[in-house]
Formats: sequence, C-alpha cells, structure tokens
Amino acid sequence: MMKKITVLLSEVVSEAFEKAGYSKELGTVSVSDRMDLCQFQCNGAFAGAKLYHKAPFIIAEEVAAILSENSMFSKAEAVKPGFINLTLTDEFLLEYVNGVVDDPNLGVPQVETPETIVIDYAGPNVAKPLHIGHLRSSIIGESLKRIARATGRTVVGDAHLGDWGTPLGLVIAEYQERHPEWACFQEGFDPERDGLPEIDVNELNEIYPFASAKSKEDEEFKEKAHKIVYQFQHHHPGYYSLWKQIVEVSKIDIKKILGQLNVNLDYWYGESDCDAYTDELIRRLAEKGLLYESDGAQVVDVAEESDKITVPPVMIKKSDDSSAYATTDLATIIQREKDFKPGKIWYVVDKRQSLHFTQVFRCARKAELVPADTELTLIGFGTMNGSDGKPFKTRAGGVMRLEELIKMATDGALEKLQDSEYVSGDKQEIAEKIGVAAIKFGDLSNQPSKDYVFDLNKFLAFDGKTGTYLLYTVTRINSILKKAGVAYDEARPIGGIYSDVERELALDFALLGETYDKAYSDLAPCVLCDSAYNIASTFSRLYHDEHILSEPDEQKRNDLIALCLMARRVIAKQLDLLAIETVENM
Ligand code: ARG
Repeated sequence: MMKKITVLLSEVVSEAFEKAGYSKELGTVSVSDRMDLCQFQCNGAFAGAKLYHKAPFIIAEEVAAILSENSMFSKAEAVKPGFINLTLTDEFLLEYVNGVVDDPNLGVPQVETPETIVIDYAGPNVAKPLHIGHLRSSIIGESLKRIARATGRTVVGDAHLGDWGTPLGLVIAEYQERHPEWACFQEGFDPERDGLPEIDVNELNEIYPFASAKSKEDEEFKEKAHKIVYQFQHHHPGYYSLWKQIVEVSKIDIKKILGQLNVNLDYWYGESDCDAYTDELIRRLAEKGLLYESDGAQVVDVAEESDKITVPPVMIKKSDDSSAYATTDLATIIQREKDFKPGKIWYVVDKRQSLHFTQVFRCARKAELVPADTELTLIGFGTMNGSDGKPFKTRAGGVMRLEELIKMATDGALEKLQDSEYVSGDKQEIAEKIGVAAIKFGDLSNQPSKDYVFDLNKFLAFDGKTGTYLLYTVTRINSILKKAGVAYDEARPIGGIYSDVERELALDFALLGETYDKAYSDLAPCVLCDSAYNIASTFSRLYHDEHILSEPDEQKRNDLIALCLMARRVIAKQLDLLAIETVENM
C-alpha cells in the first residue's frame, strides 16, 4: 500500500532528528505554504528548542546537514529562525509519482480497519416535487459516499424516503374527493379481488400542492387527512393499498430525476419501513424510564444543562397515537444498527433541521440504540440563494423544481454548444451532461455548510473554477491522446521533467494522498474541486507552453504524453468522486 508523501518524508526527517540526538517526534513534515521557497517543510526545531534549551536554528542546521546527504532532496536547508525547508530531486519526485501512476487506487489512501458507514441522503418525499434542498442533499451525499467508498470503507447510501407523514394523508384525502368511486374507498375493499387504481403521474405531481393549499383553508379536509394518516399507518386495507401504490409510482419518478443527476442510492427504505421497529423503540425508551406523557403525547426529555438554546422534548407518539418525524428517525437507527452495524451514520440534511437532529441523537444516546463509539453526524448544508441573496426561487417566486433547474442548465449549455464545431454526437445529450456538471460543481465547490449563490452563467463559463472548464480540459486531453493513438486509461510512467510547470503538475500528483485524506476527514468534496481545478489549470499552462504532439525529442514527447494521461486519469477520477460525468468532446 502507498504511503502518503508527507508520511514518508516525516519518517526520513524523524530519523535525521534521531541521528542528530533529538526526539523522533519532532520530524513531522508538511506541505510548504511557500511553494516559491520549497516544496515541504518541517518546523520541529521550534518544539525541539524548548525541549533541549537550544536555539531552534542550531537544531535545524544539524538536521538539515544530515538530510543534505540524502539523494531524495535537491535542497534541505535550515532557514532562520528555525525552519527546515525541503525540496525533492526530480528523480525522487518522479519515482514517487510513478508509484501513484501504478497504484490501483490512483493515490487514494486505503483505510486500515474497514468499517461500515450509512449515509442518509437525498431524502425525497413521496408525492412532493423534488426541490433544491433535495438537490443539495443528493449531490453532496452522493459525492461523500463515493469519497468514503474510495478509501476502502463499506458505504451504504439510503434515501430515507419521506412516505409516512401528513403529506400522504392530504394526498389520499384529495384523491378520495376526486375519485370517490375507486374501489379502495369502498367498504369491504380487498386489494386481491378489487385491484388498485391506475395512478396518473401528472395528477400525482400536482395533487399535493393543491391539497396542501386546501388544508390551510378547509379545517374539515385537514381533519379528514389527519385521520387518513392514522389509518394507513395502521394498515387500513383501502388506504394502505392506495398509499403503497402512490409510493411505488412516485419512487419511479424520483429515481428517474436523481438518475439524471447521476445519483444512485443503494437502499430506498422509507420512513414507513422502520415502522416495524417503532414498538421496540417505545419498549426500550420505557424500559430506561425515559418516556413520559405530556398533553396526551409520549415524549422524552433531551435538554442539557449547558444548552444555549431551548432543546424541547422529543415527540415519540402524538396524542392521536401517530408517529412523529423523530419517531421514524429513532426507529431507523435501530433498523440500521441491526442491518449494518455501522461505525458511523451520516445525515446529509439541510442545516435548518439541526435542532431535530440534536434531539434525535441525544435520545438515541440516552436509550443506547447504538454503541457509544458509533458516530452520529449531521452534515448540515446551507441554502442555495439567488443573486438577490435570498433562497433561490422561480421567476414567478415559487419553489424551483429540480427538473426545471436541470432543464435551465441544459438549455444554457446547449446555447453555448450551438456553434461548437467539435461536437460529434447528440448535442442535447452532451448539453445535459455539461449543464448537470455545471450545477453540481457549482454546488460542491463550496463548503457544504455554507450558503452560496446560484449563478448559472458563471457555472457554465468555460474558464474559471467551473464544472464546464473541467469537462473542457478533459476533452482537450482526449483530443491529444486520440491523435497520439494512446488509450485514455493507460498507466504510463513519467520518465523526466523538463520545465517548472511539469514539476508543478508532478507535485500535484504526489500530493493526491493528502488531498483525498482531507476531503474524507473534512467531509468536504470541495477539496477535490480545488485539486481538480489546480491540476486542470496547471495542465492548461503546459498545453500552452509545449507543442506536445509535434515535440521532436521522442523521449520528451513520451513524457509529456505520460503527463497528459495522468492528468486525465486524475481529473476523471476526481470528477467521478464528485459524481460528475465527463464528455468525449465539446
Ligand atoms: N424528507 C426530509 C425532507 O424533505 C428529509 C429527510 C432527511 N433524513 C432524515 N433521516 N430525517 O425534509
């Protein structure tokens, strides 16, 4: 297995500290923050100065003298007041990079003790259109899943479909008003004998907003919907069958749209699926003496002494005996523990739901639903805003549907492609890929917790840190490789470095281990966006400086092509971890 380059260098420098008579612990090497001065640095002499009552510069000089003997370094020098600055020889740099070229994981450090992570993401709701909140959850969750999986962990993505609450009651109540003749609404209904109604997707898509608006004006309707929730939750034959049918039809529609975004969940468990664990949840809460009655409802206290805001009790059973949102989340924790024994559960959900998750996690801990060392983490994301700085809306001021957004981006990309002479193949299809890449990269290039401004024009620009630029860079490399007759995924070693830009590119490749580690441990796909962008822009400089295909020196030409290949493989891999598809040409 490959060692990260800073780990490898730390070993070498630690040894040098030891040889000079100091503690090994001082030899930690990090990437230089002054690339103009050196590639790596070690600041251990400062801590050493305190331990050994010596000037840091003296220690740095002694250690640097030992390191200078090592053929790995072209430069190992002590710099006042006590830094050790390190630069690798091109030979050593390439030896390391060629290890990455050959690494089946292309530089992604592999975990030593594999564990299972459950990622709860996308969180679509049955019968409700997917909106931008679901977009963010889907694309951040999908990327985190791929990043974690690339490290060798077992990762399970679960949609946690919203199929068990009030909206479904409203939808069914409205169906009953519109189609009272349906068999499922008749006394003595038997699904085997009577069959189920054909649900029309278009009606299903418009029925929830209609019913929801109605419930705000019509108390009686609202009351009826409430009763229906209780009934389908308790398997009343007619309502339950219709409910199931609605879930099926809706799921197909949701999967189609998420598929367009290249988002693929492993499980489609709904809030309803954990219903089987609700009784167990209640029993365990009761056994621990946590459950008590409040205004006819069953609740659990989760407030803590140090709380700065009020953390209200968690609602487990409402006064009409129906389940609440927290009930489904807690019962799902029992289910996930039984099915997967996860070391971690990550929830990729709008950060405005953080109070809910504080309550759920505290209740889960108190009830010991998972072992104490199982991590429960909310990866709360911020809001996608319009250019006015307010949550992104349609022109008419409504909530933007995901489908509309994808169409908008596709149309924008199509316009840009209109006069491209390079595109072979279906322009519409390519435009959709570019549009989706632009949206996803625009989102993922921010820290998940930050709000950001959705600016389609900027996201679709061919230059700057955009998905479009990255896809474009890949197509440029494709064209070089095609002309050179080289397969895109060839692992070809790089034999030599001829210029500063090439060295920069090689160093980017050498640092991939650090990059992937950071993306994983910070739960931050934006780290990969930065890395892909850096590599693409360094590559673009190389492309401008060199005439790769017409380079007369054959060895150099081969090495330049090897760099192109590696740049392509790395960018494509990083885009894949962001769940962004590349295109052949554009
Ligand atoms: N369906 C919810 C919504 O649209 C999100 C679900 C988030 N996941 C969870 N385990 N609560 O807001």
